[in-house]
Amino acid sequence: MSSYYQRHIFFCLNQRPNGEDCCALHGAQAGFDRCKQQVKAAGLAGPGGVRVNKAGCLDRCAGGPVAVVYPEAVWYTFVDEADIDEIVRSHLRDGQPVERLMLPPSVGR
Ligand code: FES
Repeated sequence: MSSYYQRHIFFCLNQRPNGEDCCALHGAQAGFDRCKQQVKAAGLAGPGGVRVNKAGCLDRCAGGPVAVVYPEAVWYTFVDEADIDEIVRSHLRDGQPVERLMLPPSVGR
Protein backbone atom coordinates (compact mmCIF):
# COMPACT_ATOMS: atom_id res chain seq x y z
CA MET A 1 0.00 0.00 0.00
CA SER A 2 1.44 3.37 -0.91
CA SER A 3 1.13 6.34 1.40
CA TYR A 4 -0.91 9.38 0.49
CA TYR A 5 2.17 11.59 0.35
CA GLN A 6 5.54 10.24 -0.62
CA ARG A 7 7.27 12.66 1.74
CA HIS A 8 6.20 15.07 4.41
CA ILE A 9 8.31 17.94 5.72
CA PHE A 10 7.39 19.74 8.93
CA PHE A 11 8.84 23.14 9.82
CA CYS A 12 8.80 24.38 13.37
CA LEU A 13 7.35 27.89 13.21
CA ASN A 14 7.02 28.26 16.95
CA GLN A 15 7.07 31.79 18.30
CA ARG A 16 7.54 32.35 22.00
CA PRO A 17 6.30 35.39 23.86
CA ASN A 18 8.61 37.98 25.42
CA GLY A 19 11.37 37.54 22.85
CA GLU A 20 12.38 34.11 24.18
CA ASP A 21 14.50 32.12 21.76
CA CYS A 22 12.57 30.00 19.25
CA CYS A 23 12.71 28.96 15.61
CA ALA A 24 10.60 31.96 14.58
CA LEU A 25 13.52 34.22 15.56
CA HIS A 26 15.87 32.34 13.23
CA GLY A 27 14.17 32.58 9.85
CA ALA A 28 11.77 29.65 10.17
CA GLN A 29 8.93 31.34 8.29
CA ALA A 30 11.19 32.31 5.39
CA GLY A 31 12.44 28.72 5.15
CA PHE A 32 8.90 27.36 5.18
CA ASP A 33 7.76 29.84 2.51
CA ARG A 34 10.73 29.07 0.30
CA CYS A 35 10.20 25.33 0.65
CA LYS A 36 6.51 25.59 -0.26
CA GLN A 37 7.34 27.70 -3.27
CA GLN A 38 10.13 25.42 -4.49
CA VAL A 39 8.15 22.21 -3.99
CA LYS A 40 5.33 23.71 -6.02
CA ALA A 41 7.67 25.01 -8.73
CA ALA A 42 9.25 21.57 -9.04
CA GLY A 43 5.82 19.99 -9.54
CA LEU A 44 6.20 17.90 -6.39
CA ALA A 45 3.25 19.22 -4.40
CA GLY A 46 0.19 17.12 -3.67
CA PRO A 47 -0.95 13.50 -3.31
CA GLY A 48 1.75 11.03 -4.28
CA GLY A 49 4.30 13.81 -3.87
CA VAL A 50 5.40 16.13 -1.12
CA ARG A 51 3.49 17.96 1.57
CA VAL A 52 5.05 20.95 3.35
CA ASN A 53 3.51 21.58 6.77
CA LYS A 54 3.76 24.06 9.60
CA ALA A 55 4.46 22.64 13.02
CA GLY A 56 4.67 23.94 16.53
CA CYS A 57 7.71 23.36 18.70
CA LEU A 58 9.41 20.08 17.81
CA ASP A 59 11.46 20.24 21.02
CA ARG A 60 14.83 20.53 19.33
CA CYS A 61 14.98 24.29 19.69
CA ALA A 62 18.74 24.50 20.31
CA GLY A 63 19.27 23.70 16.62
CA GLY A 64 16.67 26.13 15.35
CA PRO A 65 15.36 26.65 12.83
CA VAL A 66 14.56 22.98 12.40
CA ALA A 67 12.55 20.85 10.00
CA VAL A 68 12.01 17.10 9.78
CA VAL A 69 11.30 14.91 6.75
CA TYR A 70 9.22 11.73 6.95
CA PRO A 71 9.13 8.83 6.31
CA GLU A 72 12.93 8.91 6.65
CA ALA A 73 12.80 10.93 9.91
CA VAL A 74 15.74 13.08 8.84
CA TRP A 75 16.16 16.29 10.85
CA TYR A 76 17.57 19.45 9.33
CA THR A 77 18.69 22.88 10.30
CA PHE A 78 19.10 25.58 7.66
CA VAL A 79 20.24 29.15 7.27
CA ASP A 80 19.27 30.36 3.83
CA GLU A 81 17.37 29.75 0.61
CA ALA A 82 20.22 27.75 -0.90
CA ASP A 83 19.92 25.26 2.00
CA ILE A 84 16.20 24.91 1.47
CA ASP A 85 16.66 24.51 -2.28
CA GLU A 86 19.15 21.72 -1.68
CA ILE A 87 16.78 19.87 0.67
CA VAL A 88 14.00 20.16 -1.91
CA ARG A 89 16.14 19.03 -4.82
CA SER A 90 18.21 16.36 -3.19
CA HIS A 91 15.96 14.88 -0.53
CA LEU A 92 12.35 15.71 -1.35
CA ARG A 93 12.72 15.20 -5.07
CA ASP A 94 15.58 12.68 -5.43
CA GLY A 95 15.42 10.83 -2.10
CA GLN A 96 19.01 11.69 -1.12
CA PRO A 97 19.21 13.21 2.38
CA VAL A 98 21.52 16.23 2.66
CA GLU A 99 24.25 15.24 5.12
CA ARG A 100 25.71 18.71 5.60
CA LEU A 101 22.42 20.14 6.88
CA MET A 102 21.49 17.33 9.26
CA LEU A 103 20.89 18.18 12.87
CA PRO A 104 23.37 16.35 15.14
CA PRO A 105 21.58 13.69 17.25
CA SER A 106 22.62 15.38 20.48
CA VAL A 107 20.76 18.62 19.74
CA GLY A 108 17.70 18.90 21.91
CA ARG A 109 15.77 21.58 23.60
S1 FES B 1 11.01 26.41 18.97
FE1 FES B 1 11.42 25.27 17.17
S2 FES B 1 11.91 23.26 17.90
FE2 FES B 1 11.30 24.37 19.65
